[in-house]
Amino acid sequence: MGMYPLSVLVYLLWCMFLCLFQTRLCVLSSMECGGGGYWLGNCLQDSESSLSNSSSTSVTSSKAEIAEFSSSMKGSVSCEDLGGVGYFNTTCLLHSNVTLESDLHVYGTGNLGVLAHVSVLCPSEGCVIAFNMTGTVNIGQYAVISAGSVFLSAANLTMEDNSFINTTALGGLPPSQTSGTPVGFDGAGGGHGGRGASCLKKNDTSNWGGDVYGWSSLHRPSSYGSKGGGTSSEKKFGGNGGGRVMLQVEEIFYLNGSVVAEGGDGGVDGGGGSGGSIFVLAVKLKGYGFISAAGGMGLGGGGGGRVSLDCYSIQENVKVTVHGGYSIGCPENAGAAGTYFNADLLSLRVGNDNMTTETETPLLVFPVAPLWSNVVVENNAKVLVPLLWSRVQVANFFALEMGFTES
Ligand SMILES: *[C@@H]1O[C@H](CO)[C@@H](O)[C@H](O)[C@H]1NC(C)=O
Ligand SMILES: *[C@@H]1O[C@H](CO)[C@@H](O)[C@H](O)[C@H]1NC(C)=O
Ligand SMILES: *[C@@H]1O[C@H](CO)[C@@H](O)[C@H](O)[C@H]1NC(C)=O
Ligand SMILES: *[C@@H]1O[C@H](CO)[C@@H](O)[C@H](O)[C@H]1NC(C)=O
Ligand SMILES: *[C@@H]1O[C@H](CO)[C@@H](O)[C@H](O)[C@H]1NC(C)=O
Ligand SMILES: *[C@@H]1O[C@H](CO)[C@@H](O)[C@H](O)[C@H]1NC(C)=O
Ligand SMILES: *[C@@H]1O[C@H](CO)[C@@H](O)[C@H](O)[C@H]1NC(C)=O
Ligand SMILES: *[C@@H]1O[C@H](CO)[C@@H](O)[C@H](O)[C@H]1NC(C)=O
Ligand SMILES: *[C@@H]1O[C@H](CO)[C@@H](O)[C@H](O)[C@H]1NC(C)=O
Repeated sequence: MGMYPLSVLVYLLWCMFLCLFQTRLCVLSSMECGGGGYWLGNCLQDSESSLSNSSSTSVTSSKAEIAEFSSSMKGSVSCEDLGGVGYFNTTCLLHSNVTLESDLHVYGTGNLGVLAHVSVLCPSEGCVIAFNMTGTVNIGQYAVISAGSVFLSAANLTMEDNSFINTTALGGLPPSQTSGTPVGFDGAGGGHGGRGASCLKKNDTSNWGGDVYGWSSLHRPSSYGSKGGGTSSEKKFGGNGGGRVMLQVEEIFYLNGSVVAEGGDGGVDGGGGSGGSIFVLAVKLKGYGFISAAGGMGLGGGGGGRVSLDCYSIQENVKVTVHGGYSIGCPENAGAAGTYFNADLLSLRVGNDNMTTETETPLLVFPVAPLWSNVVVENNAKVLVPLLWSRVQVANFFALEMGFTES
């Protein structure tokens, strides 16, 4: 499968070359394109229409070498502008690395392919990369899409082995009036789904770093994570907050890669950033991939972020984690776990992947209608329920497992 996109590319380039001399001789054999009904199956028609304009395709082939895309993006961006081949309204194949300097919003009625080993990056905090496609989106092996916010819409989305959607440490500003970034110079972790850890906790008095926010939208999370605290006024911040990912897939999301919105690493002089937000809406989620909004490590670890999966069925073995970040200054007190909500089953999991912590994940108001089916607190997470227990209504069960301590 690794060489497949390359062969398509070579074929397209060859076809382009042919077109220059014999327009209309672009008859691709279904062997080259079909791939047993794989998503590029319709590249026959697409490449034919996109390649029939010889003047624009020769421009494309010379632009294909451009590694850095640096002009500011105003108005609509074409596939060619990104160094790709084809059109967003038919099929666009991105085959060279692109670094953007500002937000990118693409709307297309076709398919998008990010070929193997290709990176599409906007490496500044809060920068947005949005591909709103009505066809299929395929992200090849070792391909990376990285920005502060990554929004994708597609009929089907496939992320092949070792591909990444990476918003780690690229969060923009969290919602105003939240206390996600701790005050003072304790080097405490940022908060979001769970509180950040503070290593000043030396006794039973509750003490934590950044606090939580975004509870009311945990079914559809969309907030950035928060920065960790610094250790002096000169070195102000620790790790940055995690970014945001929203994937809207009409049919199947096949995930063999990773979707991450983790908090940044604060090192020994700052707290870890808190995890960001990941929301996946799809009919089916399949594959063996990984979804993480974990907190970043730091002097005090960052709190986990928020993940919500709204999928009618989840098959095979996609792993989800929202654990808090490791605390270098107090390893027994990691950042608190964030929240992982299954919006189809209406169940909430709060798990810390067995990282020990003294820092809580506050569970706030539970909805009365519809009732949640399960709330599971596991793997060393510690929750704080500020309501009277009699008012917590959960249809099936409220399970507290493995090292849980009620506060
Ligand atoms: C062919 O390309 C030229 C230059 O990019 C463009 O102006 C023209 O509209 C294109 N024609 C078609 C049929 O796409
Ligand atoms: C793609 O299709 C949409 C909707 O049909 C249209 O608004 C847009 O202008 C088209 N874009 C290009 C680049 O042709
Ligand atoms: C894109 O960049 C990555 C990392 O810098 C590199 O490994 C890869 O080979 C590049 N891919 C292409 C198609 O140039
Ligand atoms: C894509 O566009 C549709 C229609 O405008 C909109 O409803 C949807 O929310 C968009 N998806 C993303 C991920 O922005
Ligand atoms: C999505 O994938 C499924 C399974 O491969 C396929 O049957 C369906 O036709 C695809 N949908 C689109 C719009 O390509
Ligand atoms: C995903 O991984 C599984 C197990 O390794 C493999 O069988 C499957 O073909 C892969 N699918 C894709 C789209 O990479
Ligand atoms: C994800 O982003 C983080 C922060 O920018 C970076 O350290 C890490 O190497 C990236 N991972 C991948 C696989 O691109
Ligand atoms: C517990 O520790 C905190 C911070 O180190 C300190 O402010 C507080 O006075 C201590 N409380 C007790 C009862 O020792
Ligand atoms: C946590 O510990 C339990 C019990 O020892 C074990 O079953 C589980 O696999 C561990 N989880 C992780 C993420 O390490």
